[in-house]
Amino acid sequence: MNARFAELTEGSPYAGYTYSYPHKTAYRRLPAPVPLARAWAGEDTGRLFLYAHVPFCEMRCGFCNLFTTARPEADVTAAWLDAVTRQASRTRADLEEAGGRPPAFARVAVGGGTPTWLTAAQLTRLFDLLEQGMGADLRAVPVSVEVSPGTLDAEKLAILRERGADRVSIGIQSFFDEDVRAMGRPQRRAEVERALGALRDAGFPTLNLDFIYGGATQTVARWVETLETALAWSPEEIYLYPLYVRPLTGLGRRGRGVAEDWDAHRLALYRAGRDLLRARGYQQVSMRMFRSPRSDGDAPVYRCQDDGMVGLGCGARSYTRGLHYSSEYAVSARGVREILTDYLGRTEDDFAAAVYGFALDAHEQRRRFALLSLLSEEGLSLADWAARFDEPPAEALPQLDALPALRLARWADGALRLTDAGVERSDAIGPWLYSPAVRARMDGYDLT
Ligand SMILES: C[S@@+](CC[C@H](N)C(=O)[O-])C[C@H]1O[C@@H](n2cnc3c(N)ncnc32)[C@H](O)[C@@H]1O
Ligand code: SF4
Repeated sequence: MNARFAELTEGSPYAGYTYSYPHKTAYRRLPAPVPLARAWAGEDTGRLFLYAHVPFCEMRCGFCNLFTTARPEADVTAAWLDAVTRQASRTRADLEEAGGRPPAFARVAVGGGTPTWLTAAQLTRLFDLLEQGMGADLRAVPVSVEVSPGTLDAEKLAILRERGADRVSIGIQSFFDEDVRAMGRPQRRAEVERALGALRDAGFPTLNLDFIYGGATQTVARWVETLETALAWSPEEIYLYPLYVRPLTGLGRRGRGVAEDWDAHRLALYRAGRDLLRARGYQQVSMRMFRSPRSDGDAPVYRCQDDGMVGLGCGARSYTRGLHYSSEYAVSARGVREILTDYLGRTEDDFAAAVYGFALDAHEQRRRFALLSLLSEEGLSLADWAARFDEPPAEALPQLDALPALRLARWADGALRLTDAGVERSDAIGPWLYSPAVRARMDGYDLT
């Protein structure tokens, strides 16, 4: 068998999580700053995704490599809001210049980190900024907010609800304190239950719960019990994340601390979780995402394969068709602090150009479309492809033909969709489809 095929079927099913393409470790300082008005010229600025990244948390969890800092001083969060205000003002003006009219947002997400680390007054200011500063109509479009169990109170939840948040996502990871602690997150089940009760009382239409599988202490029986406990709350969505131990995280520094046969352990937990959720009527949307039969789903107003993303806040990424850009990325406390300090000192003019990111040529744009479509429930539709690109997908990406041959995907109704075997290997298929240029950059990334 071809060596690259073997990587797909015999290598680890857990090569890497593709939540976007290219990966942020493929970003570099751009050869020259790109003015935002130029980056956004020719883009559809009428249905953008607005994302605000809040890089603060109550703790730094041992498994987490997201861009965040634990327990910042009050003056840091205050200065951060001032900086986001400058960034929003400049970004909106540049988007308006590029589009010839004010930008419009089809979807809003506030993530992190942990947005609810902010005080009630700061959350209000952040929503004012999204609404008045950026012009997002928060009551008319889907608005999603990430929260953690230890940062919720009734006042903050009332603000989220009043300001139009219709989806709240909370990280739980496990209902067994011992399992979460072993993953480097001291958490008490009583606090999680209190948070879930408060979220349900607040009446958000969509509640999403995040769980992680693959910690050393997790058994299949306890994993199933965790998910049974979750199901008792009837969440509209559930995300099941395989554990990754990444460099410079608490778990990474400590040595892996995972089961001997880690891949087989994760696969067994994945299958047990998938089978249980399906048996309870949940629809599997992707390897990680499951949607309840009661959920009305997500109207596809915004499609991540196609539409632009405007990121605000240090750590947020922004996507146009030809350029992905962000602030720099780090995991270590020192690296994050340095990047944050630089962000806090920026003037409005400093936000007028992208300086760090990845320019996507025509080939990378095709890869991105194929990859993100294939890893989602819709699959890679020939009609959608033909509406964007001239040559057939297999010509742009001959690798795709391997997937049906290996029974990891199947053509049906004009679309290539992953089979169950393919879905559980999503984290192998994604990286396998990365271009050699992106792989080389990711391999050469110097993480701080
Ligand atoms: C932004 S956090 C969720 C909100 C909130 N900060 C919290 O932790 O409660 C996103 C989710 O990604 C998942 N995650 C983060 N790092 C991970 C890793 N190394 N392996 C697996 N899942 C991970 C966790 O389930 C986490 O809840
Ligand atoms: S998992 Fe959530 S709370 Fe923990 S460090 Fe990451 S973003 Fe913060």
